[in-house]
Amino acid sequence: MNSGLLLQILSVLALSIVCTTHSTKVFNVHHYGAVADNKTDNTKAFMKAWIGACKWRGKSRVLIPRGLYYLGSVVFRGPCNGPKEFVIKGVLRAPTEPGLFFIDHWITFQNINRLKIYGRGTLDGQGAAAWPYNDCGTGSCKPLPVSLRLDFINDSDISNIKSINSKNFHFNVFSCYRLNFNRVTISAPQDSPNTDGIHVGSSGDITIDRADIATGDDCISIGPSSQGIRISNIFCGPGHGISVGSMGKSETEEGVRGVTVVNCTFRETLNGVQIKTWPDSKAAGGFASDFIYDNIDMKNVENPIFINQQYCPSNLCNHEGSSKIQVSNITFRNIWGTCTKRDAVKLVCSKSNPCHDIALENINIIGPGGLSSSSCSNVNGTSQGRQTPPSCLN
Ligand SMILES: *[C@@H]1O[C@H](CO)[C@@H](O)[C@H](O)[C@H]1NC(C)=O
Ligand SMILES: *[C@@H]1O[C@H](CO)[C@@H](O)[C@H](O)[C@H]1NC(C)=O
Ligand SMILES: *[C@@H]1O[C@H](CO)[C@@H](O)[C@H](O)[C@H]1NC(C)=O
Ligand SMILES: *[C@@H]1O[C@H](CO)[C@@H](O)[C@H](O)[C@H]1NC(C)=O
Ligand SMILES: *[C@@H]1O[C@H](CO)[C@@H](O)[C@H](O)[C@H]1NC(C)=O
Repeated sequence: MNSGLLLQILSVLALSIVCTTHSTKVFNVHHYGAVADNKTDNTKAFMKAWIGACKWRGKSRVLIPRGLYYLGSVVFRGPCNGPKEFVIKGVLRAPTEPGLFFIDHWITFQNINRLKIYGRGTLDGQGAAAWPYNDCGTGSCKPLPVSLRLDFINDSDISNIKSINSKNFHFNVFSCYRLNFNRVTISAPQDSPNTDGIHVGSSGDITIDRADIATGDDCISIGPSSQGIRISNIFCGPGHGISVGSMGKSETEEGVRGVTVVNCTFRETLNGVQIKTWPDSKAAGGFASDFIYDNIDMKNVENPIFINQQYCPSNLCNHEGSSKIQVSNITFRNIWGTCTKRDAVKLVCSKSNPCHDIALENINIIGPGGLSSSSCSNVNGTSQGRQTPPSCLN
């Protein structure tokens, strides 16, 4: 073999090693049969691209170019080999056929570490046709699809993605750790039922930063068995605010510890910051503690600051009961703006497990006619700095 040829072979080898270790292998859905015509079902094409990317040893990416893609319900499963990206540049449109409504998800990612979802694309849940079926007030609601489910996902990022008109929640996070949401946009009409923006449950070390959320239910809700949830720079409105809970429905649930909500804006929302637990809770040992709400601007919010241990939507519970969820060490600091009813601060705690170490610091919330009030029951705590309304704590 002459040395020139040997050198050539060696350099090709070296190049291929460099490529597999440093560059990202791209799986464009168009190479797997996807058609962006707004009607071809792309479920199989997307699945094939995902399976290819997931199996690929090393860094790889599923790419959905610009265009309008009809997509049925789909589960992208791991575990995968190495870090994966899912880049959505196009608009994904969910089914509108009623036969496909009663599945609990539209798009699910499951069992994956080091996943990045981004691309400035849109998930269009096509909710309008399904919302009339979400009649939970009567106690007979069937599960409608959540637009994006993240189950058992660790060390991952969701950024620059838009979700519109989800049939049920927009994003649902279950059993995920070290997951960051950055710059997601969420939109659905004010009267769309159960369209929570981001629901986090049974998860830890979750960051949600710079989200712009307008929806029909909670902008963000945190369910039981969660810890270390950092929420910042959220615009919420319309919507039902940022809530922890509801808690106390199931016997096996654990508490929520360590929630921070900072630098947020609420406009025309039902609630601002809220903690809600059922009065007839079964969960002994449940708790909500170590929360800080700081630097929050509200305008025309109905219930700006609300601890509600008598949470009972549609009156489907025993009001005589007393919540066993222990609420403690909650600080409300630098919260200002206006509310639409006089009762700006409501701390309605449990008779059997009174709230303690609740702090109100620098509150300035003005109600109709320039007047506002606060009410406390079964709660101990402190207040300092400005207090409008006058604090009901000592
Ligand atoms: C996509 O298809 C749906 C359902 O047929 C239709 O309502 C919608 O207008 C279409 N969008 C575009 C941009 O063609
Ligand atoms: C995800 O992280 C949690 C908490 O650190 C850990 O218990 C779990 O095993 C991790 N899951 C995977 C698939 O690595
Ligand atoms: C909140 O705003 C303050 C003041 O602008 C800033 O110093 C702080 O870093 C912000 N925090 C977050 C988490 O964005
Ligand atoms: C109260 O909560 C804050 C914020 O999470 C935490 O830093 C602090 O240690 C907690 N205090 C106690 C006494 O647990
Ligand atoms: C508040 O603390 C005082 C003094 O420790 C105690 O006597 C009272 O029962 C507490 N009230 C509630 C509602 O926990």
